[in-house]
Order: sequence, then structure tokens, then C-alpha cells
Amino acid sequence: MMPDTRRAHWEAVYQQRPLDRVSWYQAYPTRSMALIRASGVSTEEALIDVGGGASFLVDTLLQDGFKDVTVLDISSTVLDRVRERLGKFAANVSLIPADVTTFAPSRRYALWHDRAVFHFLTTPEDRARYVRVLDGALTPNGQLILAAFGPEGPERCSGLPVARYSALSLSVALGSAWSLEQSSLEEHRTPAGTAQQFIYALFRRKSTELIRPL
Ligand SMILES: C[S@@+](CC[C@H](N)C(=O)[O-])C[C@H]1O[C@@H](n2cnc3c(N)ncnc32)[C@H](O)[C@@H]1O
Repeated sequence: MMPDTRRAHWEAVYQQRPLDRVSWYQAYPTRSMALIRASGVSTEEALIDVGGGASFLVDTLLQDGFKDVTVLDISSTVLDRVRERLGKFAANVSLIPADVTTFAPSRRYALWHDRAVFHFLTTPEDRARYVRVLDGALTPNGQLILAAFGPEGPERCSGLPVARYSALSLSVALGSAWSLEQSSLEEHRTPAGTAQQFIYALFRRKSTELIRPL
């Protein structure tokens, strides 16, 4: 999908749908927070939530004392909603409107979190762009939390085709520079009551050979 078409799609989603009625809505990011704790990343280190949408992950991280949180999303509409929701706390967060596949980070992050974004990249070219950005955006010891539809997850989401992953196929998609630390399946319950299988995986960078200068 071309970047402009992709942006238009997600802008329309957030302009038309209440934030708590989208299928990926979660009142609390339980599994993400468990993996962030497992990563051992400190509250002083930089975290980025890629395709963060209106997720409450940023609110939860701020409540837990994280001081360097960035949310990136292709939709400016949803980032405006997050800014409004955070109120005065928005000043402590970087909100970046960008397509992750063309994102040019100006700094590095200790932890990259992505729930339900990577699986929308259904071409090898888009996945390669994503991994290239990821490789450039993380610190040498950086960690990655990827949550995507599992092997028995839906084949479409928000009207778009998606790829489904096992821990092994996620590892293959990321390439040899990443080592899988842990993974687990989750049954996500949508606001409409449907079950969706997700896989959550924590990866650590094991090779610095792909690190490029910013
Ligand atoms: C299914 S939602 C998940 C939102 C959030 N991560 C959560 O768990 O609630 C996918 C999000 O990714 C954003 N998105 C989709 N494609 C993107 C891209 N190429 N770059 C950045 N954000 C993207 C959408 O705007 C949307 O907010």
C-alpha cells in the first residue's frame, strides 16, 4: 500500500470510529507492560511505541515513572486525541506523526514497542523498510516488543489484509540480528466480543553489525 493511501485509511478510521470501539481497544496494556518489565529497561531510558494509536500504554508508562516516551503514528488525528487526553502530561511525551516505513529517527531508543502494526505490512519490501528503520532506531543493546496476530488470528483487520505470525516466523521476518527472548499467545477480546489470537514477543539485538550512523 502506498504511504498516502495508508495514511488516508487510518485518518478515516480515527475520524469515524470512537476510540473505544475499534477492535484493538484495550483498557489496560497488560501483556505489553509485563514484557516491558521483563526487558529490564529503566525509567530513564527511551521507549518508542510505534503505531501507538490511542493505546493507554503511554499513560501507563508515565504513571510508572518512565520519563522518555515517544508515540509514533501515521494518523495525526489519533495523536491529537492522545495529546488532549494526556493534558499537561503531553509535554513529557514526543508525539511523532510518521509512517514507520519511512521514519528517519534523529535519536536512538532502548525499547521499541509495536502492537498490531507490523502485521499490516504484507509485502517483503515494506517489511524490509520497517526492519531497516528499526535497526537504525535502536541502541546497540536495544530491545523490541512485537505483538502481531498469531497463527490462528484474523486474516484481516480494519478492512485491510494482515500477515499472521508464529514466534519463528517473526524471528525470520526480523532477520539474524535479533534474538528471541520470550513469546506467548494471547486471546484478545474485542469490544464486539470476538476473540483474536495475538502473539507477543520480546527480542534483543544480538549483533551490532547492522547499526548505521544516524
Ligand atoms: C491496529 S492499530 C493498533 C494501535 C495500538 N498499537 C494499540 O495497540 O492500541 C494500528 C495503528 O498503527 C497505525 N499505523 C498503521 N500503519 C502505520 C504505519 N505504516 N506507520 C505508523 N503507524 C501506522 C494506525 O494509525 C493505528 O493507530
